[in-house]
Amino acid sequence: MTFKKVRHWKSMCKGLVLGTVLTSCMILLYCLFMPQVHIGLPEVPVPYSCAHRPLQLHPKVNINTSQQSMGKTCSPKVDIMFMKTHKTASSTFLNILFRFGEKHRLKFAFPNGRNDFFYPSFFERYQVKDYRSGMCFNIVCNHMRFNASEVAKLLPIDTSYITILRDPAELFESSFHYFGRLVPFTWKILGEDKMTEFLLNPDKYFDPDGFNSFYLKNLLFFDFGHDNTLKSTDPQVEEGIKLISERFQLVMLVEYFEESLILLKDALCWDMDDLLFFKLNARKGSTVSKLTPELRAKALEWNAIDWKLYQHFNNTFWIKVARYGRQRMAQDVAELRRRNEEMANICIEDGHAVEAGSIHETALQPWQPLGEKSIMGYNLKNNVDTVYKKLCRKMLTPEIQYLTELGVNLWITKLWGHVRDIINW
Ligand SMILES: *[C@@H]1O[C@H](CO)[C@@H](O)[C@H](O)[C@H]1NC(C)=O
Ligand SMILES: *[C@@H]1O[C@H](CO)[C@@H](O)[C@H](O)[C@H]1NC(C)=O
Ligand SMILES: *[C@@H]1O[C@H](CO)[C@@H](O)[C@H](O)[C@H]1NC(C)=O
Repeated sequence: MTFKKVRHWKSMCKGLVLGTVLTSCMILLYCLFMPQVHIGLPEVPVPYSCAHRPLQLHPKVNINTSQQSMGKTCSPKVDIMFMKTHKTASSTFLNILFRFGEKHRLKFAFPNGRNDFFYPSFFERYQVKDYRSGMCFNIVCNHMRFNASEVAKLLPIDTSYITILRDPAELFESSFHYFGRLVPFTWKILGEDKMTEFLLNPDKYFDPDGFNSFYLKNLLFFDFGHDNTLKSTDPQVEEGIKLISERFQLVMLVEYFEESLILLKDALCWDMDDLLFFKLNARKGSTVSKLTPELRAKALEWNAIDWKLYQHFNNTFWIKVARYGRQRMAQDVAELRRRNEEMANICIEDGHAVEAGSIHETALQPWQPLGEKSIMGYNLKNNVDTVYKKLCRKMLTPEIQYLTELGVNLWITKLWGHVRDIINW
């Protein structure tokens, strides 16, 4: 056998073992954690708002928001549904939300045992840890497959719905890299550059009924609970986009992350302090997409629904920016960037992200995709001023560790991590 064949055979074997382990785990977990059916319990409605005495608690109001310029004051909105889409800088945003939640002592609706709501199954409110009918939760922000009416039964009526989208070609590239190995039909793709090979002949490889196939086609539309295999001209696509635009007050864009945060601050009456962030979960060498213009076109064609979705919300995004004031937006973005840089100088050793192998503390070690150590992380500076120490650590803490700190028991996620360590993937 040639070297290439041996390698291919080895990667097939690895894939098979992995698939078997993964499937067994899934079945086991499904049996253990199948949400109990709650029959006959009376439904208690959730209150209109779950903000605790908002006005007394937050007497200070934002001075320079649009609400103020129209002569009104506002207090920060604390009831928030963040629809966490995949591969969209959402770990960075979650860190912002976690800190905001801690600052205002908010109650998060977390999943139980793992860091998502049984994705890719549809969200059900019984999946929420300690859920009881009529209970008050302020924030939902873990991965789920969205079901608007089910989420509405969990959250108060005054909840602000927000989400984030990303250019579908880049999202596809990232998803292929991160999840490709979890999609069995990719195991038979030959060659070094599987993604290119796939994009050149998607119909040859893609199996809509294949395990995990949604990761590689219109993943955004799928996350929102819609059918990702429709033709992009199907009327249900327009209908789906309309439902999303009616439900979500703010649709942020990864490509304009700072602008998105400023719009968020305006919509939810937050402070500039609430928006500070470091980019978490970044992939090594990923700042520039490696897609050629031809491949990019193919990726957009392949993910045509997500491309429609993205273009729709790109349009409405810039209308919002125009309404906010372009000049004012530019100033606010510049200030946010300046303050983030200031924080980076205060908190981060050498001021930038490093590869996994160079991160000293396990507490700051990010979760890695299967078979790689490609996700970058940070080291906390040694002699951070005590005033900033706590904030710095929080800003640098990866999602899994932060979830644990907030009291989420992640035994399933962690067990999976140990299995991977043992078989050295
Ligand atoms: C509000 O805006 C004015 C100028 O437009 C500025 O001088 C002031 O510092 C701002 N206040 C806050 C709290 O940002
Ligand atoms: C979504 O939620 C509603 C109301 O809770 C439920 O009736 C419906 O079956 C759910 N849809 C899916 C696809 O799970
Ligand atoms: C998004 O909209 C802006 C402003 O209209 C435009 O310049 C940009 O090309 C759009 N981006 C995409 C990916 O369509």
